[in-house]
Amino acid sequence: MIALTHDDLDITKPDQVRGAVESHSPDIVINGAAWTNVDGAETDEDGAYRLNSLGPRNLALATGALNLPIVHISTDYVFDGEASRPYHEFDEPNPRTVYGRSKLAGERAVAALNPRHYIVRTAWLYHNEGRNFPTTMMGLADRDEVRVVSDQYGSPTYAPHLARAIGDLIVTGAYGTWHLAGHGGTSWYELTCALYQLMNYRTRVIPVSTADFPRPAQRPRYSVLKSLQQPEILLPPWLEGLKEFVNAL
Ligand SMILES: NC(=O)c1ccc[n+]([C@@H]2O[C@H](COP(=O)([O-])OP(=O)(O)OC[C@H]3O[C@@H](n4cnc5c(N)ncnc54)[C@H](OP(=O)(O)O)[C@@H]3O)[C@@H](O)[C@H]2O)c1
Repeated sequence: MIALTHDDLDITKPDQVRGAVESHSPDIVINGAAWTNVDGAETDEDGAYRLNSLGPRNLALATGALNLPIVHISTDYVFDGEASRPYHEFDEPNPRTVYGRSKLAGERAVAALNPRHYIVRTAWLYHNEGRNFPTTMMGLADRDEVRVVSDQYGSPTYAPHLARAIGDLIVTGAYGTWHLAGHGGTSWYELTCALYQLMNYRTRVIPVSTADFPRPAQRPRYSVLKSLQQPEILLPPWLEGLKEFVNAL
């Protein structure tokens, strides 16, 4: 595996992308690069579209020209969050944010320009390294209490589970859009309670509403993902992911 960083390759530059794909001769390209600052995208729309739409377009063109498959990572934010049951791959996207719209445009560019595409929508990603929701909440656990939003529901996804699922997916040849996220759904509040319980923290967790935490970009109220695709590729339940995360600390 060749893992290119931003310093190695700027995906917004078509010539660089073409050169990298040609020189490394990969069997498959996996794109994890993105503009992920959801609030920042509201004030730098061009920046978000350049990275989330133009970048994947460049990658799809370069891989398509060489008949190479591409995996493109996308997001639950392509949905409006108004559903009352988990979203599957055939549900109609309706993004409410610049981030979501720019990611959807990226999906569409990839699908249009390289028929050998796997568009992988995932959600609420976390890992033992870096800054993410569980590591942030662990950093706050020395307080007496933390306030956590209890009216947003999603699918927490442990990154190693996603990596394994992508490994299973890319040998199928079943091109198209896939929902790969931790099985089941929960709220940020319940996720925090589960984490603190696993960590034996005594910090009180206070449920609060989205309205108590106004943000520039609207968060989906409910964006639990499920998959109807075949062959079935199911990630473990989200709580299993959290337990593995804690065990790996
Ligand atoms: N995090 C989540 O909860 C979540 C949920 C659903 C879907 N996703 C999707 O999952 C994927 C990965 O998300 P993440 O949270 O891991 O993102 P991240 O931590 O923000 O990482 C994005 C990466 O893209 C790189 N990058 C930025 N501009 C680039 C450019 N022009 N060319 C090449 N690389 C560039 C960044 O490098 P530098 O930092 O060096 O600039 C960084 O390594 C994204 O497609 C995201 O939309 C994430």
